[in-house]
Amino acid sequence: MPAIPSPGTVLLTGAGRGLGRVTALTLLRERPDLHLVVAVRSDPVGLAARLAAETGSPRVRGVACDLGSLGSVRQAADTVRELLDAGELPPLRAVVANAGMQAVTATDRTADGFEVTFGTNVLGHHLLIRRLMDRLTAPGRIVLVGSGTHFGDFRHSWGLVPPPRSAPVAELALPWTTPDAHTAKAGRSAYAASKLATVHLAHELDRRTPKGIDVYTYDPGLMPGTGLAREAGPLGRLLWNSLLHLTRVHPSSTNPRASGRKLAEVAVGAPAAPSGSYLDRGRPVRSAPASYDPAREAELWEEAERLVAGKGAYPAA
Ligand SMILES: NC(=O)c1ccc[n+]([C@@H]2O[C@H](COP(=O)([O-])OP(=O)(O)OC[C@H]3O[C@@H](n4cnc5c(N)ncnc54)[C@H](OP(=O)(O)O)[C@@H]3O)[C@@H](O)[C@H]2O)c1
Repeated sequence: MPAIPSPGTVLLTGAGRGLGRVTALTLLRERPDLHLVVAVRSDPVGLAARLAAETGSPRVRGVACDLGSLGSVRQAADTVRELLDAGELPPLRAVVANAGMQAVTATDRTADGFEVTFGTNVLGHHLLIRRLMDRLTAPGRIVLVGSGTHFGDFRHSWGLVPPPRSAPVAELALPWTTPDAHTAKAGRSAYAASKLATVHLAHELDRRTPKGIDVYTYDPGLMPGTGLAREAGPLGRLLWNSLLHLTRVHPSSTNPRASGRKLAEVAVGAPAAPSGSYLDRGRPVRSAPASYDPAREAELWEEAERLVAGKGAYPAA
């Protein structure tokens, strides 16, 4: 399959900083024929204007989307659907689910009461993709940004992130009630669990999308210094930023500049691998053994459907 053709629209979450910002700039500079929708939670119009000014490409539009609020995600998806249906945007060719967060503990909630990391990283993106799935036009792509932390081993996270918690999806989706739920270790384990769920979701999406819509999990590598640890408190942030120097030799280490350019290529370039693949900075590799689990993938899909439903129907896949 060739690269994503124009005319076409790419939707990107988390475009305001870190990996997403580089991805947005690269897409606008290298594929000015495509339209870019940046779905972000604060100042979408201002961000679009700044990206346009920086790249000289006017084909960028901002849409408000807080992934920690199902109502906001629904509204964002509906706005994009309306723009597509009215012909104000060309056909939707790619959704890049890049936004992500890591909380300090595993007890914080989204607006809808879900554990904040799982609610944002998994449920918010699930709803956004579900509500736009019937508008994706082949050849098209869904790219979910994963993380090496889903492996749960020393090689990928250097012991900085504990393995993903193993529990039924319905439990992971709610603030934890385990004895250690208030610890930083639990917060990081919740993050790893959200990223394992992201790979499961990609596998299930791959089964459910029509031919011509490829699905990938993109692992950007370890990128110390981004905003990911900004809620970790002064000490946690210091550690995160100091990793910038310590991890230069780590095989998974990279930076947003290099990895964002790769992500843009995965989103709109010639396909890097068969649909369903896990791409480590663009290179297809096996994800964790635990990520190949059709029963768990089905459980995740069904629970995610149940949890994001309730306030209005959305088109069937
Ligand atoms: N940094 C790493 O080492 C690393 C490694 C593996 C995977 N990743 C993944 O890479 C992706 C990008 O992370 P990053 O390192 O670039 O971190 P970052 O600089 O913190 O960027 C994260 C982006 O996600 C957005 N976001 C967070 N919560 C949101 C919400 N509720 N609604 C909408 N947007 C929200 C942020 O928006 P605001 O600007 O509004 O906060 C920000 O634009 C994430 O999925 C992360 O898990 C990162």
